[in-house]
Amino acid sequence: MCPLAVLADMKTVVRANFDASVEAYNRYERRTGRFTALARLLVAEMSAHGEGAFDAVLDAGAGTGVSTQAVAERADRPVALDISREMLTEVASAPRVEADFDHLPFADDTFDAIAFTASLFLVPDPAVATQEAARVLRSGGVVGAVAPVGWVTANGTDVFADLDRESRSPTGSEDVERALADEFAVTTGTWRFATTADDVRLFHSIPAMAARLYPRLETEKRVDKTRELLDTLEGTFEQRWRWIVGVVE
Ligand SMILES: C[S@@+](CC[C@H](N)C(=O)[O-])C[C@H]1O[C@@H](n2cnc3c(N)ncnc32)[C@H](O)[C@@H]1O
Repeated sequence: MCPLAVLADMKTVVRANFDASVEAYNRYERRTGRFTALARLLVAEMSAHGEGAFDAVLDAGAGTGVSTQAVAERADRPVALDISREMLTEVASAPRVEADFDHLPFADDTFDAIAFTASLFLVPDPAVATQEAARVLRSGGVVGAVAPVGWVTANGTDVFADLDRESRSPTGSEDVERALADEFAVTTGTWRFATTADDVRLFHSIPAMAARLYPRLETEKRVDKTRELLDTLEGTFEQRWRWIVGVVE
């Protein structure tokens, strides 16, 4: 298969994984409020780097609309975009656009800001999406992203380091940071959240998240296997997220 076909195939898989994740995603968010917290922190950071109030803001990878709500608290004209129709169906606080970050269906200079809350790390090549973001942002516009660094114990060890799974979870913050730094003048930092073993289990009961541990298994088997893997996990951990805010120069 040629590289373009492989990339397209990866997106089809991501879309299907999130299409199957709505219920579990809502359950996790109701219990932890983690994505709401991340989106609010990100939009506040973006506002601090922008020139005045935001009007048109794209929530890129809006999911069920948790981050769109945070955007709507600070922008007059939020727009929710996602590749997953099922996730997008849940969005109530903005116009919805079903599309791919890599091909944004908007004219140049359309937005004051673009927020990627826990979404840009899911594309095979974040450089393509960041170039698209730069194209549709106006001069002086602001882009923001949060990407997962991982789950660590009190002594800084990766929770997944000794667990037997097919791939590492989560990954990608370095690639996201590099892609944004190539396109924008960026400021970065790390947010840390205290997290319980139960929350780690609930997070990975979301089919799209379990797919980062067992990418080759069918949805149900993958979630079951992840439950078994994390069954004996105990204690409290820290979940780390990298944030990156960039300004169009
Ligand atoms: C972890 S969820 C985050 C959702 C939301 N931002 C939040 O904070 O709750 C990631 C979202 O990114 C979307 N996504 C992944 N790849 C995408 C792409 N190439 N184009 C558009 N959306 C994408 C997924 O469908 C999913 O809804």
